Amino acid sequence: MGIFSVLALPLLLLGISGVIYIYQSVKWLLSKSAVQNKVVVITDAISGLGKECSRVFHAGGARLVLCGRTWEKLEALYDALISVTDPSVTYAPKLILLDITDISCIRDVAKEILNCYGCVDILINNASMKVKGAVQSISLELDKKIMDANYFGPITLTKAILPNMISRRTGQIVLINSIQGKIGIPFRAAYAASKHAAVGFFDCLRAEMEEFDISVSTVSPTFICSYHRPPAPGNWEASIWKFFFRKVSYGVHPVEVAEEVLATVSRKKQEVLMANPIPRAAVYIRTFFPELFFAIVASGIRERLKTEEES
Ligand SMILES: NC(=O)c1ccc[n+]([C@@H]2O[C@H](COP(=O)([O-])OP(=O)(O)OC[C@H]3O[C@@H](n4cnc5c(N)ncnc54)[C@H](OP(=O)(O)O)[C@@H]3O)[C@@H](O)[C@H]2O)c1
Repeated sequence: MGIFSVLALPLLLLGISGVIYIYQSVKWLLSKSAVQNKVVVITDAISGLGKECSRVFHAGGARLVLCGRTWEKLEALYDALISVTDPSVTYAPKLILLDITDISCIRDVAKEILNCYGCVDILINNASMKVKGAVQSISLELDKKIMDANYFGPITLTKAILPNMISRRTGQIVLINSIQGKIGIPFRAAYAASKHAAVGFFDCLRAEMEEFDISVSTVSPTFICSYHRPPAPGNWEASIWKFFFRKVSYGVHPVEVAEEVLATVSRKKQEVLMANPIPRAAVYIRTFFPELFFAIVASGIRERLKTEEES
């Protein structure tokens, strides 16, 4: 009886770990089989998240078409991918140069993409541009460039690939968006506006594509960090603003987001918000109690200005 009670907890923990391990393995195998042999296009495959998506889909046996605007970085990614995988169960990725803000070239790039394998099964719209600054300090030209990168670019590429998917009555389109497509965060007006616009477009597209069995998904992380460690504490670390949007959420690692993108594709999820409780609550507060949300944001700004003045 004594020995049993001593061993009970470790055995229970071992059992739980085993179940979790089996669950994760089954989930990975199911996700993998959903992308095996599929033609997957990733825009800006060289970004932090793009690289991880490339790795996850490549390991899953997808036929990748990797797009990016810097050839050397695409080649480095290619080398990194093929050096760690078994060539008998994976495909060598195809590389395509794509500057997502160069709207006039996107149709030609789409033809190049389609020429790689004759079709596209999964399009992951990951490319994006960020800008930070007060509204009056950002030029209209830059506002338009952000809109090109985050809205007109992805929708032009999607529209160019869609006829191929519609004719085959199959396909999946994923938009990597941001929580800023749901709530506006000060000093990121152009980025938030472009991400809101993209969500609006892809929500409509989802409904329109249902009859063709084409699924449309949006994956919106809060912020993607490269390290599992908190940012260095600064003077204004204590501000409500930082607490509200950053402190509780040190962000998600690109690997987690990439695995979520794979799960989204394999389960054809429509909308995924990757956020810790506080940013998630912010989305609900913005929806149901907008005045409270605006008041919290305004107080965060006041707090930040005060801290900046003091330092
Ligand atoms: N990082 C976050 O905290 C966060 C949070 C939520 C959502 N997201 C979303 O996640 C996605 C990936 O972001 P990320 O943070 O992984 O990116 P990132 O690591 O910050 O990389 C930025 C990338 O943008 C590329 N780029 C810039 N202008 C471009 C253009 N005109 N055409 C093509 N590529 C261009 C750069 O390519 P070069 O190296 O060649 O210049 C670089 O690869 C984006 O859709 C972003 O909105 C990010």
